[in-house]
Amino acid sequence: MPNLALRSQSLAPITLHGGIRVKHRPRVAVIGAGACGLTAVKALTDAHLPVQCFEKSDRVGGNWVFKNKNGLSSAYRSLHINTSRERMQFRDFPMPKHYPDYPKHDLIARYFQDYADAFELQRQIRFETSVERAEPRAEGGFRLWLSQGGVEDFDALVVANGHHWDPAWPEPAIEGEFSGLELHSHSYLDPDEPYALRGKRILVVGMGNSAMDIASELGHPGVAEQVWLSARRGAWVLPKYAFGKPIDQSSVLPSFLPASMRRALAELWFRLAVGKLEDFGLPKPDHHLDQAHPTISSEILTRLGSGDVRPKPALLRRDGQRVHFADGSQELVDVIIYATGYKVSFPFFSSDVVAPKANDLPLFLRIFPLDRQDLFFVGLAQPVGAVMPLAEAQAKLIAELLSGRYELPEPAERKQRTERERARMLARYVPSRRHTMQLDYDEYLAALAAETKAGHARARQRSARAVRAESRP
Ligand SMILES: Cc1cc2nc3c(=O)[nH]c(=O)nc-3n(C[C@H](O)[C@H](O)[C@H](O)COP(=O)(O)OP(=O)(O)OC[C@H]3O[C@@H](n4cnc5c(N)ncnc54)[C@H](O)[C@@H]3O)c2cc1C
Ligand SMILES: NC(=O)c1ccc[n+]([C@@H]2O[C@H](COP(=O)([O-])OP(=O)(O)OC[C@H]3O[C@@H](n4cnc5c(N)ncnc54)[C@H](OP(=O)(O)O)[C@@H]3O)[C@@H](O)[C@H]2O)c1
Repeated sequence: MPNLALRSQSLAPITLHGGIRVKHRPRVAVIGAGACGLTAVKALTDAHLPVQCFEKSDRVGGNWVFKNKNGLSSAYRSLHINTSRERMQFRDFPMPKHYPDYPKHDLIARYFQDYADAFELQRQIRFETSVERAEPRAEGGFRLWLSQGGVEDFDALVVANGHHWDPAWPEPAIEGEFSGLELHSHSYLDPDEPYALRGKRILVVGMGNSAMDIASELGHPGVAEQVWLSARRGAWVLPKYAFGKPIDQSSVLPSFLPASMRRALAELWFRLAVGKLEDFGLPKPDHHLDQAHPTISSEILTRLGSGDVRPKPALLRRDGQRVHFADGSQELVDVIIYATGYKVSFPFFSSDVVAPKANDLPLFLRIFPLDRQDLFFVGLAQPVGAVMPLAEAQAKLIAELLSGRYELPEPAERKQRTERERARMLARYVPSRRHTMQLDYDEYLAALAAETKAGHARARQRSARAVRAESRP
């Protein structure tokens, strides 16, 4: 597979990697102007690389634009972030101090718009233009087919199309046929839109954050007639605050403690502060607190405790409007809402270019495919903590690579490190389609910083070697 690795910041000198000469700075395309695409555009522009971003919508912000014209946003009217403002903000553009700890989607969308305005990123974005097809070129780089007609060639491609827009329904489907309304959390907006859910008997399936928010909202007295929450597995439901601070800023455990002790102390705190989930009728988690993507809700336990939401184990069978559960119980319901997560999808790639298997796409540092150097992913990760600062650091590293200041390790090392990291992640987390690309926020940022330093040294050594080679008679 042809690779590009550009050696110098100046326009003239060009590097060879895989035997290919490039006589200009690489022209880079970015797919998507959500949070991750925006920070990619900024980092590439800061590195003086020519960049063109394509955005399907008429505005920036992706998922955070409620009723986004692109039809891809999974935001509902009452959505607030569950990673706190300070953990979520880009490092080079703090959120306004007057923002609350957990702002609503409109403030978050405003923040991304302000980010784009502050750094004049719109100049690089072609709105209402979807990338329909991206095909590798024989000489390296990609050819893009655009929704507005036309084809454009680029030396490198950054993919930031998001991974929370393509609904994952239960697979295999729940046995039987249902005669009521079935929907995925992706299409839920509020109790009235786009479906009339008030006064209905509603089953919500799942124990992730979508299920928590939607079951809590519909379970408010006077909204649905009754809500049931079906959990095929228990989850440690964390409150939004601990010790008076947003929970993702409240760790009092020193980092020198071994992971096993930190885990034991965190679980002890949970038992003291929250209690036993079984007492709320939920299944006891079959894993430790740090072995699943965090489920955060300060409301669901109150709704369960008030009887507004009733707990149920796994949904096994549908029969008309009757639904059957793993404990042998059954209920008559009007609506089933599957809050069962999302698929990682790249509709513009053919399967011989990029093909995630059950949401799994191994990448070196969750950025670099193992078989090419002209394709990069930003934000294709599921962090414990917010994705934005991680995407910002990823984008900076890509910009460093494309402008020659950073060099990747050799392919064998990349493969080995990727496999090692992936094995570690898979061993830690509960096996699930949603646990294929988990990252620890602080650990990952530290790893990227260390790798950047190492890659700078490699790039300097390569430059020195090239200068020596060129000066040889
Ligand atoms: C309900 C919900 C709540 C969440 N809450 C949080 C939270 O509190 N904290 C957190 O860190 N994360 C949260 N997330 C995760 C969420 O994915 C990120 O917050 C963030 O939206 C990721 O940004 P992104 O740019 O990768 O993707 P997106 O925001 O999805 O943006 C992708 C962009 O790419 C564009 N696009 C897609 N395909 C194409 C194409 N072919 N051509 C051109 N443009 C294209 C889209 O139009 C869109 O603008 C939440 C997710 C959901 C579903
Ligand atoms: N307020 C917020 O900020 C907010 C709100 C919503 C979502 N989000 C974020 O958005 C992302 C997606 O969240 P999500 O809750 O939509 O999806 P998710 O995190 O993938 O959770 C999906 C849930 O559905 C369950 N599930 C999957 N397949 C199932 C099946 N066939 N039968 C029964 N249960 C099944 C999963 O259980 P298993 O664990 O057993 O697989 C899990 O409990 C996450 O990053 C989340 O943090 C944030």
